[in-house]
Amino acid sequence: MEEKFILGIESSCDETAAAVICGRRLLSNVIFSSATEQAKYGGVVPEIASRAHTEAVDEAVKQALNEAGLTVKELDAVAVTYGAGLLGALLVGLSFAKSLAYSLNIPLIAVNHIRGHLAAAYLCDNNLKPPYITLLASGGHTAIIHIKTYTEFEVLASTSDDAAGEAFDKVARVLGLPYPGGPNVQRLAEGGEAVIDFPPSLVRGSNTQFSYSGLKTSVINYCHTAEQKGEQFSKADVAASFQKAAIDPLVKKTVENAVKLNVGTVTAGGGVSANGYLRERLKADCKKHNLKLVLPEKGFCTDNGAMIAMEGLIQYNAGNFAKMNINACAQIPLK
Ligand code: KG4
Ligand code: ZN
Repeated sequence: MEEKFILGIESSCDETAAAVICGRRLLSNVIFSSATEQAKYGGVVPEIASRAHTEAVDEAVKQALNEAGLTVKELDAVAVTYGAGLLGALLVGLSFAKSLAYSLNIPLIAVNHIRGHLAAAYLCDNNLKPPYITLLASGGHTAIIHIKTYTEFEVLASTSDDAAGEAFDKVARVLGLPYPGGPNVQRLAEGGEAVIDFPPSLVRGSNTQFSYSGLKTSVINYCHTAEQKGEQFSKADVAASFQKAAIDPLVKKTVENAVKLNVGTVTAGGGVSANGYLRERLKADCKKHNLKLVLPEKGFCTDNGAMIAMEGLIQYNAGNFAKMNINACAQIPLK
């Protein structure tokens, strides 16, 4: 890959992030989060997110350039998330990136956020190259994907309803845990045991379809029934049992697909792949089947600008540049 200096900007949800790469080398990675502010409301409030991005984007970019030891004039391209995400939030990053690219007369690259999550692994291991199997588990998507080339992939399995991260967030609410749900469920689960038999997240009899609605309903029913009967129950055990039911099938099917397709490498991406239990399970299963695992550090699983810059580099090399009239998209299909 060419040694281009690419600035990546991310503002799809509650993180305002900017990063600079040179080829596949990460030079800086700055993240400002409005999560503490959002926690007061129990979830992301789009208006608050947009305002926070407006206040933070200039500083995030400045810091990313400073830490990289670059001036704007040395940039070769500006990559920015244009979807999926909250429209108002996306528009802040996109408008900023457009102005910057226009003023510098350099290419603007519009990045699909999910492809950004997939690309994060390239920054963790410079030798990683397709083909490989990736487990994508974020707040909006859950899928097992066969990455065939840098720009082509095939979805092997996906969810028919909620995404894994969404299920973590909903279960967190049922258990009375604050936003953001996923890390708090994980923390609670660490003190519990997976002794409750919740339905696993794979549709019975299917190899390609996950579903989180049954699991989520089961957790809600379990808690409500116990509460109505005035029975004591261990929230930690509920969290651990939910976590196991949510994650075991994802790991199992990821590894099975890698073995079946004779693809020797596995990666993971998206916020849920920051989950400690998922990471341990994936490491153990990959080792058992002699698969190479490229697992991005936790900070590169959740939203960041580095992954947007990296996907920007892939699109740069493919000659995929955006027009100045490109708009933000709240939803983009995985393919
Ligand atoms: O990838 P991401 O940061 O944003 C999206 O593109 O959606 O993923 C956010 C999701 C949230 O649902 C959050 O609860 C979940 O990832 N998450 C976790 C953990 N950290 C973040 N879920 C389980 N365990 C974690 N440690
Ligand atoms: Zn994300």
